Amino acid sequence: MLFFGGDYNPEQWPEEVWDEDVALMRQAGVNLVSLGVFAWSHLEPEEGRFEFGWLDRVMDRLHDGGIKVALATPTASPPPWFTLAHPDGLPVTADGVRLTHGSRDTYCVSSPAYRAAARNIAAELAGRYGQHPALAVWHVHNEYGTDCRCDLTASAFRSWLAKKHGDLDALNESWTTAFWSQRYSDWAQIMPPRATQYLPNPAQVLDFRRFLSDELLGAFVEQRDLLRAVNPGVPITTNFVQGGWVSVDHARWASEVDIVAVDHYPAGVDGESETAFGGDLARGWAAGQGGEWLLMETAPNLIYTPGRMHAKEPGRLTRHSLNYLARGSRGAMYFQWRQPRGGAELFHSALVPHAGPDSPVFREAIGLGRTLAALTPHVVGETVPAQVAVGWDAPSWWALQGGGLPAADIDYLAAVRQVHRVLYESGFATDFVFPGLDGFGERAAAGGAGLVGAGTLSTGGGTELVDSGSGAGAVGAGLGAYKIVVLSHLFLISDASAAALRDFVAGGGCLVVGHLSGIADPAGRIRLGGYPGAFREVLGVRVVEWRPLGVGVTIALDNGEQGIRWSERVETAGAETVVRYAGDVLAGAPAVTRNRFGAGTAWYVSPGLGDDALRRLLGQVAVEAGVTPVLAGLPPGVEAVRRGELVFLFNHGDGPGTVPLPGAGTNAATGRAVSGSVTVPGGGVVVWRGA
Ligand code: GAL
Repeated sequence: MLFFGGDYNPEQWPEEVWDEDVALMRQAGVNLVSLGVFAWSHLEPEEGRFEFGWLDRVMDRLHDGGIKVALATPTASPPPWFTLAHPDGLPVTADGVRLTHGSRDTYCVSSPAYRAAARNIAAELAGRYGQHPALAVWHVHNEYGTDCRCDLTASAFRSWLAKKHGDLDALNESWTTAFWSQRYSDWAQIMPPRATQYLPNPAQVLDFRRFLSDELLGAFVEQRDLLRAVNPGVPITTNFVQGGWVSVDHARWASEVDIVAVDHYPAGVDGESETAFGGDLARGWAAGQGGEWLLMETAPNLIYTPGRMHAKEPGRLTRHSLNYLARGSRGAMYFQWRQPRGGAELFHSALVPHAGPDSPVFREAIGLGRTLAALTPHVVGETVPAQVAVGWDAPSWWALQGGGLPAADIDYLAAVRQVHRVLYESGFATDFVFPGLDGFGERAAAGGAGLVGAGTLSTGGGTELVDSGSGAGAVGAGLGAYKIVVLSHLFLISDASAAALRDFVAGGGCLVVGHLSGIADPAGRIRLGGYPGAFREVLGVRVVEWRPLGVGVTIALDNGEQGIRWSERVETAGAETVVRYAGDVLAGAPAVTRNRFGAGTAWYVSPGLGDDALRRLLGQVAVEAGVTPVLAGLPPGVEAVRRGELVFLFNHGDGPGTVPLPGAGTNAATGRAVSGSVTVPGGGVVVWRGA
């Protein structure tokens, strides 16, 4: 089954609306809802007093309607009574301000009182609903990622540090505390990063982000384990959220969930390439689970352009949803089912809007439900083959968010997004790979069950709900599965991960490294002797000086392109120079180089490039490496994504686009024969299945 549905908040509505909800869900083909995500104050109105009657009735109604439930533990939003009874469960900001209730995510994950209350409500829910026939999956918490700097956090941080570093000498060394007289002589002197007079110690900040990721993971794992003990047949997940504020290293969390679930809210005008990015990154996180993941939330009919909600054009809800599906999702779920009458997010979009079901978004949802049902037999368990991979590293992102960097506009996400966008626009299927995980250096944590391992998303009675399919393909098979690996701003790297990349090239792979990659060790200490220290040997270059460019300043290159944002003085040490700087004091110095290393090739791209210049360069790399787009001969604006035997054709343009097909086949949504070529209407999607 492909899942279709969204967050359902019946506690916000009188009971008579619930019958209409179930009837409308059935009309649209909704088969899974996330229930109770923010319902703690309704489930436990006073400490230790539970009111489950309403949830019993909702669960039963959904079950009678044939709709499954992703039942949430509501621990992302403790009720007001909790915070009054346990003020030390409230988070404290870096400025020392203790927050109070009145919003959500207002808790300190290191507070024993919070953890006990969270375990308690999770255990109550497990006891009551663990065998309920509507239960298909546990949805623990919501979007882990909150941050606290209180004294309880300080003491948990110190324990984490003691475990990691062993003794204070090692910590002092790792944090370079000789700088600015920060040498610690007692563990009690160490604080979480709090407001400081000037720049904080970057290694302290980096370790704190890692600590927080582990601390939040601990909170997830303790809920997961108690839910699993009640009914081991029910898969357990939590919804990952992407964002620079999130201190969660999802690549490392992924092996702890049974299915990777992801919330994704494209926020820019360019919702198409951002959708593709979110889907590909989610598939990377799910590598240990055959590359299958679940889009748990997205906005049905809104894109958030800066400062403005922008209604999706007709067909865009379908196009975006199928795009996630094409990139490995097990379905399409939304925030939210019914648009609320009040509350902080009362204008957030929904499948059933304020206008009611007689509305464009609900009508489009009905069509989408039918399409998903038709595609189900061809999609479940199928993988997305890719020859190109891009490196992603949350700690490198965190390291590049600090101050004291050589340019204030260094932007990790923008840099990685650019590489992905250019590959996407060139029609190449792209995976993400992660340092420190399987195939890319040492493995950080033991693998979890995965969707395949867990067997199925199941009902409480253990009845099989879906087929998990054939599972692992190229994804997760390590770097060896790829012809090209591209690294941008991969600032931190361990020796083991650098060695894995060197082996990849020696074995015949093609590595493309951009500036600001391979600069420091995992503690953020520079690898000395010339940048990029970790890759000098494989690249055959040595960078002796950074020369960041001012905003709007360009530097000429001898191939007619312009460098932007960044330039460097590069010396070759075995590599051949492909492009030279042609301006400034760097005139004549190498800008882009290529090094034969073992059976493979390693490119170094020193300047910042605009999309067009980067596309031309990566196009040349792809030709040399023998990488081909998913489908040749696509008209402008049309994107092709292959998953299993399906080729999804997305027309992001306004006019129709005719696509030459590689052979005979059918339209997978209608079953009609299609061969030769197919015309995809403007804004539309055709899913073609080769015969
Ligand atoms: C998600 C969150 C939802 C809702 C949504 C709005 O990140 O999980 O509860 O707030 O954002 O976009």
